[in-house]
Amino acid sequence: MLFIAKTFAGLEALLNEELQTLGAQNCKSLSRSVQFEGDFALLYKVNYYSRLALRVLWQVDTFTFANNNQFYEHIFNFPAEKYLTSDGTMAVSATLAQSIFASPLFASVLTKDAICDRMRDRFGERPSVDKENPDVQFHLHIFKDRATLYLDSSGESLHKRGYKVSQHPATLNEVTAAAMIKLSGWKMDCDFIDGMCGGGTLLIEAAMAALNIPAGFYRQHFGFFTWRNFDKELWQKTTDAASIREDVPIDFYGYDISPRFLGMARTNVEQAELQDFIHLSKQDMFDSHPKRKPSCIIINPPYGERLEVEEINDFYQRIGDTWKSNYAGCTACLISSNAEAVKHVGLHPSKRADLFNGSLACKFMKYELYSGSKKA
Ligand SMILES: C[S@@+](CC[C@H](N)C(=O)[O-])C[C@H]1O[C@@H](n2cnc3c(N)ncnc32)[C@H](O)[C@@H]1O
Repeated sequence: MLFIAKTFAGLEALLNEELQTLGAQNCKSLSRSVQFEGDFALLYKVNYYSRLALRVLWQVDTFTFANNNQFYEHIFNFPAEKYLTSDGTMAVSATLAQSIFASPLFASVLTKDAICDRMRDRFGERPSVDKENPDVQFHLHIFKDRATLYLDSSGESLHKRGYKVSQHPATLNEVTAAAMIKLSGWKMDCDFIDGMCGGGTLLIEAAMAALNIPAGFYRQHFGFFTWRNFDKELWQKTTDAASIREDVPIDFYGYDISPRFLGMARTNVEQAELQDFIHLSKQDMFDSHPKRKPSCIIINPPYGERLEVEEINDFYQRIGDTWKSNYAGCTACLISSNAEAVKHVGLHPSKRADLFNGSLACKFMKYELYSGSKKA
C-alpha cells in the first residue's frame, strides 16, 4: 500500500526519519510530504504516533484519461463500496495542474457523481455529501492527464492533538513545536523550560515526547474510524502497544508574564493530565534562571506585530542578554517570523532552519550557551 504523509515545508527530512523509525518502507521525501509503503497496521501507527505529519493519505487508484467520459468511467469502476456504505457520507476535494478540467470543483463534482451513481446502481441508494464531517474523505490529485485518488485517513489535521482546549491568540502549531524540539537536539535528559509559554504547546509536546505519550493519545477521532473496512482489533492493538512512561527524572518549567495566558496553559496541561510534570509560574523570562544546569530552553516569543521596530529589536536583544548571563551551560532555541528582530539576539547560532508556524514563514535558531571562557 502506498501512502503520502503531509507536513510543513522544511520538515520533509525529519518526517522521513520519523516514518522509518515507525517501520515505513521505501520512504521518499517530496515537497511538503513523504511517500512511503506499508500496510494497515502502519497506517494506523503513523496516524497515532507521528508528531511531524499533518495528515496521511492512502493512494487507492491512479490512471490516465483523455476526456470527461473516460474520467467518469474510471471512477465509476472504482470499488468505493469497500470503504463507504450506501447510506454513509462522503466528500471529495481536488487539486489540479495543467489539466483539461477547468476547475478543481468540476473534477470533485464529477468524482462524487461517479461514486454516487455506482452506489445507487448497486444498492438502490447513494451516500450523501458532508463536507464538514464525512465518513470517507476522498482527495483527487490531477496533473495533466493523470489522476490519483486518495483516501484521507486522518480526518482533522493531526496537529490537532486533542489537548488544546484553550487557544492562545498567538498559539504555536503542535507539529511545528514538535519539530523545534527535535531540532533542538534535546535528549530528554535535562530540564525543559519554555520562558514565554503562552498556552503551553512546547511544554506539552516536550513532556509527551519524554513520557513517550503518542501524539494522537488525546484525540477522539481519526478519519479511518468511519471507513467501512475499519479494523477495530488492529486499532486496539496499535494503541495497546504504546509504552507510556510513568515518570521521568526531569522537570518542565513554563513561565509567562500574563496571568491570563498562564491560565490557558494550565487548562491545556490539565487536559493532557501533565500537571504533575509541568510547573507553571508567573515570571518575567528576563529575570529567570534555570533551576538546574544544563537545561534546554525553547521559546516562541512575540513576533512584534503590535510593537514599534525599535522596541521589538530591544526585546530580542534582551532575550540574548538574559540567556548569556543567566543560562550559560544551557541550550537555547527560539522561533520567530521576525527575521530582523532575531538578528538582535546577538548570539552565534549553532543551527538555523526555515520553518512554518501554520502559514507563517519563520526562522528557527539554536544557540549553545557555553560557560567559562568560550564565547556564547
Ligand atoms: C507567541 S506567544 C507564545 C505562544 C505559545 N507558544 C503557545 O503555543 O500558546 C508569546 C508569549 O510570551 C509572553 N511574554 C512576553 N514577554 C514575556 C516576558 N518578558 N517573560 C515571559 N513571558 C513573556 C506573552 O505573554 C505571550 O504569552
